[in-house]
Amino acid sequence: MSKITILGIESSCDDTSVSVVIDGEVKSNLISSQWIHKKFGGVVPEAASRLHVETIVPLCDQALKEAGITKSSLSAIAVTRGPGLIGSLLVGISFAKALSICLKIPLIEVNHLQAHVLSLFIDEKPLLPLICLTVSGGHTQILLISENFKIEVLGQTLDDAAGEAIDKTGKLLGLPYPAGPEMDKLAKNGQAKFKFPMAKVNDYNFSFSGLKTSVLYFLRDQLNSNPQFIKENLNDLCSSIQDNIVKSLITKLELAAIDKNAVSIGIAGGVSANSQLRKELSILCIKHGWNCSIPKLSYCTDNAAMIATAGYYKFLQFEFSEDSFLPLARYPIS
Ligand code: KG4
Ligand code: ZN
Repeated sequence: MSKITILGIESSCDDTSVSVVIDGEVKSNLISSQWIHKKFGGVVPEAASRLHVETIVPLCDQALKEAGITKSSLSAIAVTRGPGLIGSLLVGISFAKALSICLKIPLIEVNHLQAHVLSLFIDEKPLLPLICLTVSGGHTQILLISENFKIEVLGQTLDDAAGEAIDKTGKLLGLPYPAGPEMDKLAKNGQAKFKFPMAKVNDYNFSFSGLKTSVLYFLRDQLNSNPQFIKENLNDLCSSIQDNIVKSLITKLELAAIDKNAVSIGIAGGVSANSQLRKELSILCIKHGWNCSIPKLSYCTDNAAMIATAGYYKFLQFEFSEDSFLPLARYPIS
């Protein structure tokens, strides 16, 4: 049987990524991050779209080269349809449509959130039922993946996403955007000695907007008496904020996994790169005897390997898309 070769394209936010997956195996996964947004303290949608336009063609050429193939070997093109920034999504989708028409091969639209879940299945096959915590800059969801591969949303954030809370509180501390990696690094040398309230939200839901406000007022009060407060306590502040967020994620994850009799627990999305979250999840899984599924760092943040992998599974089911589909800023997972 001939090989199934999928080209995956991801451009939902500020990372352009292209990947080649052959028979389910990742052969290349190139990610070009847009550093321009750092100086604005957040993603500027128009700038993001323009940079995707500049990057996507050379990145695609490079991804094919690294995989050791040419365009003529491709079986289908998989592309992120949403959720994301419309302008950014449009670049990847237009490119994918054009390529699929020229090469006369199928087009496969992919839900970015489903693809984050599939990132857990790239290098291993976690046993089901699986509870997956998807935590990124835009989303915080607890999902149940049952034996028939049905995905059910058990809970989600009622306001800010965990990554958004990290980025916004990090901004208050003067950290560069996105604050996650820097906060993670600084927290390693600090103590979680400042206590911020943890939102009491029902079921498996989360709320992080209160944390942002309490950090804002706490810093304002401390800076009034000591203008050097942030500088002198930066590591401890990072450790305290990160600890608050990780503890609330782990608490809900444990609750859901017990209630749903999960055998595996996984984390996906940009915040799953966080070292404290990875460590605490491993400890939790050892405590309960759960299988622990933590993707490698290049599959945590936005990447096209997860899009191409989702495309591969859809290809096996003959789930192809019309080339008239439009991007979706909101695209619920189920
Ligand atoms: O999945 P992702 O790349 O893009 C979205 O779909 O949002 O996630 C980006 C988020 C940002 O909020 C960033 O600060 C966070 O992931 N992040 C981290 C770490 N690396 C990235 N948060 C905590 N610790 C990290 N090491
Ligand atoms: Zn993402």
